Formats: sequence, C-alpha cells, structure tokens
Amino acid sequence: MGFYEDCILPHLVHLSMRQDTFSAYRRRLVSGAQGRVLEIGVGSGLNFRFYTDAVRQVVGLDTSPRLLSMARQVLSAAAPIALVEGSAEALPLEDQSIDTVVTTWTLCTIHEVAGALREMRRVLRPSGQLLFAEHGRSPDARVRRWQDRLTPVWKHLAGGCHLNRPIRELLEDAGLRIERIETGYMKGPKPMTFMYEGRARPL
Ligand SMILES: C[S@@+](CC[C@H](N)C(=O)[O-])C[C@H]1O[C@@H](n2cnc3c(N)ncnc32)[C@H](O)[C@@H]1O
Repeated sequence: MGFYEDCILPHLVHLSMRQDTFSAYRRRLVSGAQGRVLEIGVGSGLNFRFYTDAVRQVVGLDTSPRLLSMARQVLSAAAPIALVEGSAEALPLEDQSIDTVVTTWTLCTIHEVAGALREMRRVLRPSGQLLFAEHGRSPDARVRRWQDRLTPVWKHLAGGCHLNRPIRELLEDAGLRIERIETGYMKGPKPMTFMYEGRARPL
C-alpha cells in the first residue's frame, strides 16, 4: 500500500462518511440487524452506535488496518464487536454462520464485488438477511452517462469507488432475493448520490 492509501485516504474516508446526511440511513438500517452480524467494510466504525441489543456479536471486517484502528476507538458497549482485517472476496467464516450481513457505502469499492456478494450469500444462514445502504447506478440516462464518464478517474481518487454499479442486479446475480428496496437521490451531486437501501435474503 502506498502513502496515500495507507495514511491519507483513511482520514478522507472517515471525514466524508461521517456526514449527517448518512446518519438517517445508518440508524434505519443498522437497527434492523440481529443475531450474529457481519459488517463488511466496517471503515471507521460509524455504524457501531446504531446496533441494538438484538445483536449478539458483530464481526467487523475491513482491508484497511488504519480504518480498523480508528474503529477500535469507538467500539460500542451495545454489542461485542470483533474487528478482523480481511477481504470480502474471501471471508474467513464458516458457511451459514451469520444472521445479518450489513453493508453501507461499501459495495462501490470492493474490487471483485460479484465474488464478494457470493461470499456474503455463502456465510448467511438460510433465514438470514443482508441489509444494504449503497450508492450506485442511476435510472436516469443523463446521470448514468456522467457516472460512466467519471468512474475511471473517480475510482483512483476515492479508494476504488465506482459510481455506476447496478446494485439491485449485483445482489440478485449473487443468489439473493430482494425483499425490500427503496431508491432515490441523497443531497449532493447526482452521479455520486443515487441510493439503494433495503433488505435481501438468500434464495
Ligand atoms: C466508503 S468506505 C465505507 C465505510 C463504512 N461502511 C461506512 O459506512 O462508513 C468503504 C470501506 O470498504 C472497505 N473495503 C474496500 N474493499 C474492501 C474489501 N474487499 N473487503 C472489505 N472491505 C473493503 C474500505 O477499506 C472502506 O473502509
């Protein structure tokens, strides 16, 4: 990892992700987690305060040691949280061992996102749920064209973030059935802010 990825990017991620506009998504989504939870791309731990006592344990996974050490500083009293350095493409967990997978603003940055979603599907119990709040491909042709134009440059500046990932199709292609989904723009520039929020379950 270079100096930018290791030392600067984690702080930029933390600063950009702690915006107030994201909190309502976090609260709605994370309060629905229960049982043994796997949070993918835990970042600096901004979701921790929203876990309730319906959660038995959180396994918080991230590739970035620097972000994991920031997350360590905000460990929540509400749920025991184990932080793990690792990659979503190869989850260090048993098949069908997780009740809830949580992803917030993470599917955009995972390099092999289709394989990572298959891994999430593998570790979910048959009755489990995947809770997602993710930005991605807009339904508006004009915005989509900008997302396609900007992504090759944007991903180099923003830690691998793709603006144009088709979140619904990615979930379905990984063998997940979407049970609830809400879409729409958050505040901010349209190419960066088209949101998909909801719950999916293993097929
Ligand atoms: C934009 S940040 C979002 C952080 C956090 N989910 C939040 O809502 O604040 C994306 C996170 O995904 C992590 N990440 C990127 N690729 C990953 C991978 N392959 N496996 C696990 N985490 C990954 C990054 O290190 C970063 O913490």
